[in-house]
Amino acid sequence: VRVAVIFGGRSAEHGVSCSSAASIVRYLCRERYEVTPVRIDQDGVWTIGDDRPVLDGLDTATLLDMTRDPAGPRPTALESMWRALSRLSDKVDVAFPALHGGHGEDGTIQSALDFFGIPYVGSSVVACGIGMDKELTKKLLADARLRVADSVTLRGSADDVSPEDRARLGLPVFVKPAREGSSVGVSKVEGWASLTRAVAVARKTGLSKVLVEAEVPGREIDVGVLEYPDGRVVAGPPLEIRYPDEHSFFDFDAKYHSDQTIFDIPADLPAAVTAAVQAQAVEAFHVLGCAGLLRVDFFLPSVDGSEDPVVVVNEVNTMPGFTAMSQFPRMWSAAGLEYPALLDVLVETALA
Ligand code: DAL
Ligand code: MG
Repeated sequence: VRVAVIFGGRSAEHGVSCSSAASIVRYLCRERYEVTPVRIDQDGVWTIGDDRPVLDGLDTATLLDMTRDPAGPRPTALESMWRALSRLSDKVDVAFPALHGGHGEDGTIQSALDFFGIPYVGSSVVACGIGMDKELTKKLLADARLRVADSVTLRGSADDVSPEDRARLGLPVFVKPAREGSSVGVSKVEGWASLTRAVAVARKTGLSKVLVEAEVPGREIDVGVLEYPDGRVVAGPPLEIRYPDEHSFFDFDAKYHSDQTIFDIPADLPAAVTAAVQAQAVEAFHVLGCAGLLRVDFFLPSVDGSEDPVVVVNEVNTMPGFTAMSQFPRMWSAAGLEYPALLDVLVETALA
């Protein structure tokens, strides 16, 4: 099977995508796949990498070297995309968009792949577009009676958060860009005087829509959902994220620069809670119209043995982090589906 692994991209998660792709390319190359790495630069220019065989131990630096800029004048983003996709439509059977964030996980790349008739791993345009947008995701999930954190969507200034909203949300609140990943642009606000600054930080990511969200104190649990080629949609064992106190939440640093973040898999939860998060993760997959894979992140305000536990969906990721150390592959590995087998399922489902 010939696979194009598309990575990098224009979002703030460019570097995270390069790390995800290095793992994906390394493991695919060890198997029966013919892999073409495709890098999208931060300015949107696409470069198709060399076909030279990849050695074991391929890392991010090797991957970047394999996809370095060709000699000659630099094309525009659109020209390079057109050329790359035209070539790929003959050259590969399937694409793996290992992209996180805007222009990658939000349906735009998926749309381009659709135009060129290239099948791809993961969700299609609409589910990606909704999954990337925290406001729309929450609206759809709430409509399906899944619990989400209370929030206010802000398009204007921080002053637009009314006294009633402030009283209802309480403090602290989390201020988040509506369409970002990896906690980029997210702040924890402990006093209303800091709200304006936090909104400005969130808007530095380029989008004016910002969520001001009530804190849901409690445990943080992720669940991976996987679609098999026969259409079965299955939730994996829940993962609990624990991190040292100096991280006031699971921020970019705790995600990528801390060796102290601990993942417990399976999370130590009463059976009814495990069943509830798994069922809701699968439901979120269907409600959002996803395909292939989804990671659903939950807060558990209180965990007791009750039959109907309270679980709150924080957000979803249609292309979750995919290094061998990332939550999604580790959850499946704990379930007995090792990284290479997980890639097989994703590729086969995309081709099914
Ligand atoms: N947005 C990052 C990659 C994640 O959800 O894992
Ligand atoms: Mg996310």
